[in-house]
This record gives sequence, C-alpha cells and structure tokens, in this order.
Amino acid sequence: MYFVYFLGTAGSGKSTMTKVFGEWLEDHEMSACRVNLDPAVKQLPYFAEVDVRRYVDYNELLESGLGPNGAMVKSVDLILQHATTLRKEIEECLSNYVLVDTPGQIELFAYRKVTLELLRELSGGDKSAIVYLIDSTILSKEENQLDPYAFASLAVLGASLKIRFRLPQVNVINKVDLLSMEQRFQLDAWLEDMRSIAYSVGGEEGTLTIRLIEAIEDSGGIGEMLVSSAVTEEGLDSLYAALQRSFYGGEDYA
Ligand code: GTP
Repeated sequence: MYFVYFLGTAGSGKSTMTKVFGEWLEDHEMSACRVNLDPAVKQLPYFAEVDVRRYVDYNELLESGLGPNGAMVKSVDLILQHATTLRKEIEECLSNYVLVDTPGQIELFAYRKVTLELLRELSGGDKSAIVYLIDSTILSKEENQLDPYAFASLAVLGASLKIRFRLPQVNVINKVDLLSMEQRFQLDAWLEDMRSIAYSVGGEEGTLTIRLIEAIEDSGGIGEMLVSSAVTEEGLDSLYAALQRSFYGGEDYA
C-alpha cells in the first residue's frame, strides 16, 4: 500500500482532491481507499471507506464545553487511541493507494505531537508521502497578478511541513483553473526557477523572502512543485508520476 496524506491550509482542496485523485486512480486500473481524518467535517464529497467520525465525536467535545480549536486538538489526540482499528480497516480495503484527507486547520493537525505517532501507526511501515496543497486563490493579488510574498510564505509553510514530517513531499498548486493566463505565465516562471521571485520583491521583506527561497533551493528544495485543478483534472497524471518517483526514490518514514 502507498499512503498519500493530503495537507494544506483550510479550503485548499484536500477533500476534493481525495475524491478526484481516487477516481483518477480507479480510472487507471488502480484501487483507492479513502480515509477521512477530519472529525469536524460535516459533509464529504466522497465516500470514506475509513472515517474517523465513527470513533471520535467532535460535537460531543464541543458540547462538553471545549471551544472549536480545543475540541479539534482533543479530537486529534483521541484519534491516536483508535489507530490500530483504523489501520485494520485500511488493510481491509485491499487497495494499492490509501488517500488520507486531513483536518482543515493545518496547524491543529500537523504540529501536534501525537500526529507523527498517528501517521506512523496508520502507515505501519508502508511507503508514505505528503501532498501539500497550495490554494491558488491565496496567490492571486489582483486581476492578472500573483503575490510573490503569498507564494513565498506558502513555500515556507511547505518547508515547515517537510522538516516536520521528514517524508517524501509533493507540492501542488491547486485550483489553477481560477488563474488567468497571465497569472499562469507568472506562476510557471516561478515554478521553473523559484529564485526568479527576486525580480518581484523589494525592501526589507524582499530580502527575507529571497533569503528564505534561496535557503529552500540551496538545501535541495521541498520536493516537486506541480499545478493541478480538480475542475479540469489538469495535473492529476503529473501528481501520480511525482508520487511514484517519491515512493521509489524517497525514504521510508522512520
Ligand atoms: P477544509 O477541510 O474545510 O479545510 O477544506 P478542504 O481543504 O478539504 O477543501 P475542499 O475540498 O472542501 O474545497 C474547498 C472549496 O474549493 C470547495 O468549494 C471546492 O469545490 C473548491 N475546490 C476544490 N478544488 C478546486 C479546484 O481545483 N478548482 C476550483 N475552482 N475549486 C476547487
């Protein structure tokens, strides 16, 4: 089994990508097991063969007096107690690919101590990768322009995830159907050479931006950077190819 963990800021398209990439795999004669790890989600666009909501009741935690963030933190802690059962359910899917949809608020999931243990328990020694989804709409500055600082700050978040999880990582700029042709042109130039962002920034923040991008590039990068759209299905084949490369070229989660 290959585990793919979809991570990204709220609304970046994790659930939609779990759906469309699962369908893409099935259309290409592979099988997918969809795992929902978000206890707070109300509706999913796909059927989750494995769903944490069967074991963790987020609403009950809210009713017990915790706020939304406190209830999410507690939920993530509670998921770990069910890791063995979740792993068993995943094995029963008998699928090549396990697509894991993670909670919307990335900081309440990725940066909890229990999360690393949870991933280890779920993956159980099978090859795993992070797919970090970047929401194109956050990159849009104004019509026909992209915001280099937004791009750099999301790349830095990608670097943070890379050092947090220490797993093979594929970075996907999602919802590119919402970008104009000019914005796509600008994005393609940054993706070809992230250092070219230097031409679009200035001042004190510009220096920091350039230094951070250089640090990412000089250290070997944060993994492949692709574009995708769940609407047009652009990039799903490239995502598959990048995952294959990361599974065969990457290291196991230790
Ligand atoms: P949370 O778990 O709530 O953080 O959201 P999420 O990251 O799972 O995002 P979700 O899949 O719910 O998508 C958020 C919104 O973006 C929905 O309205 C989707 O229909 C829309 N969306 C997702 N992918 C795309 C895309 O590629 N293009 C466009 N245009 N919209 C998209």
